Amino acid sequence: MQSLTPEQQLAKMRADWDARARENARYYVATQQELWSDDEFIRSGESTVSEQIRNDMINVCQGKNPAEMRVLEIGCGAGRVTRALAGLFGEVFAVDISGEMIAQAAGFLKDRPNARVFKNNGTDLSVLNAHLPDGAVDFAFSTIVFQHIPSREVIETYVREVNRLLRPGGLFKFQVQGYVEQEGIAYESTPDDTWLGVTFSDEQAIALAEATGFEPRHRHGAGEQYFWLWFFKR
Ligand SMILES: C[S@@+](CC[C@H](N)C(=O)[O-])C[C@H]1O[C@@H](n2cnc3c(N)ncnc32)[C@H](O)[C@@H]1O
Repeated sequence: MQSLTPEQQLAKMRADWDARARENARYYVATQQELWSDDEFIRSGESTVSEQIRNDMINVCQGKNPAEMRVLEIGCGAGRVTRALAGLFGEVFAVDISGEMIAQAAGFLKDRPNARVFKNNGTDLSVLNAHLPDGAVDFAFSTIVFQHIPSREVIETYVREVNRLLRPGGLFKFQVQGYVEQEGIAYESTPDDTWLGVTFSDEQAIALAEATGFEPRHRHGAGEQYFWLWFFKR
């Protein structure tokens, strides 16, 4: 197993995702098809928001009017989900490690002035400090991002950072790789693999919440690729 310093690992994540974005951003963002028209890509983002957010508005909004809510997305890629979030919520702030992905997202969102995308350092949300005070976010979301991150520390830092920016009681709904074994063999990522990230067992997900100031109120899909976590800020 190749060993990398945290800086080398972040640099590799950025370089790999920039290369994927240059090759075919929409494919690497959503691998169901190689070529996506704008309409198809828009519909795909709308589906994600319908399946994960619109059907869960009690937890997501907690009585607030979505048009008055400020939301945060980690790992926005080419803006697939960001665009649908901007159609539902008042304001969207999104970050991604890849400048190439952010450039694609900015183009895709140019008619959505309530969505703002930022290239970040791949581990924390300090890039938003000039725009958002602590506690200013009503809801945070991330899908098919942490499943690619080969570092438990980076994921924990993100979750801690989301906690800092969320208002008390606010929800961070996100997906991690829950696939801990395959045909009886433990599944292990390597530090230089930026496609297959670290996995979380149910116990590790609970420990992550406890370590970062969240209540892990609901969890769905433990043991599966799409392991969804509902973390409510304490
Ligand atoms: C498979 S794409 C998904 C994009 C988007 N969430 C969606 O569902 O359309 C994964 C995204 O995560 C981003 N990413 C990977 N590692 C990251 C990190 N450490 N910090 C922020 N973004 C990261 C990649 O650049 C890429 O845009």
